[in-house]
Amino acid sequence: MSTTKLPTHLAIIMDGNGRWAKQRGLPRSEGHRQGAKTAKKIVEESRRLGINHLTLYTFSKENWSRPKSEVSFLFDLLKKFLQGEVTRLMKQDIRLNILGEINELPLGTRNVVQMVCTKTQNNRSMHLNLALNYSGRAEIVRACKQLLQENFDPDSLTEETFKDYLYTKGQPDPDLIIRTSGELRLSNYLLYQAAYAELYFTPVLWPDFSPKHLHAALEDYAGRKRRFGRVEE
Ligand code: IPE
Ligand code: IPE
Ligand code: MG
Repeated sequence: MSTTKLPTHLAIIMDGNGRWAKQRGLPRSEGHRQGAKTAKKIVEESRRLGINHLTLYTFSKENWSRPKSEVSFLFDLLKKFLQGEVTRLMKQDIRLNILGEINELPLGTRNVVQMVCTKTQNNRSMHLNLALNYSGRAEIVRACKQLLQENFDPDSLTEETFKDYLYTKGQPDPDLIIRTSGELRLSNYLLYQAAYAELYFTPVLWPDFSPKHLHAALEDYAGRKRRFGRVEE
């Protein structure tokens, strides 16, 4: 595939694990287990291609309303996944960063998440952001609260300074957002940052999403004209 115009920041809504499992008569947990394997492959491929920022929607604030057993399975899976991946993240020079409220996570998962973030904090080849216990609206409200608490001078607030109060502080906005499983919505993902992102929807369920599907999305992105409100040249 041509890598002429890669997104600097790729964000993915990894959706369809449950349906993948259901189609096979398996419990939803199997879909999540397979989804984690896909995530690993897509992280590796993104790093290989030279994408600098990759954000994966891992758990939304709204996902707390799922059955307790599914929620605890997901956090346990994440804990084991990160424990198993930390050496590779170091080897591949990938920095882990969390977008979301980590204080509300189960203690065991929170400890591993924090350990991996600390350990990888000086890695530079790729930023891997996990949107975890994340909600775009909650992120914006949190930013406003911080600004008010600091008595920030309203006249000096700009769209750029506001970004410093978001979880993505210091990182560029996503250029491309991919959503798998055929759903055509953002589900509270990166609402502020997605203002000018290109959107790509595929019916492929996340456990089936492969590097080949990633290439197709990137090819599609490379052919798009981004105008940012301007007249086409
Ligand atoms: C995405 O797959 C994973 C998470 C939201 C954690 P789903 O679990 O939403 O799968 P579907 O949408 O029910 O198929
Ligand atoms: C979005 O998927 C959240 C994640 C992928 C983690 P959902 O499956 O929760 O979204 P809805 O409910 O279909 O909007
Ligand atoms: Mg879903």
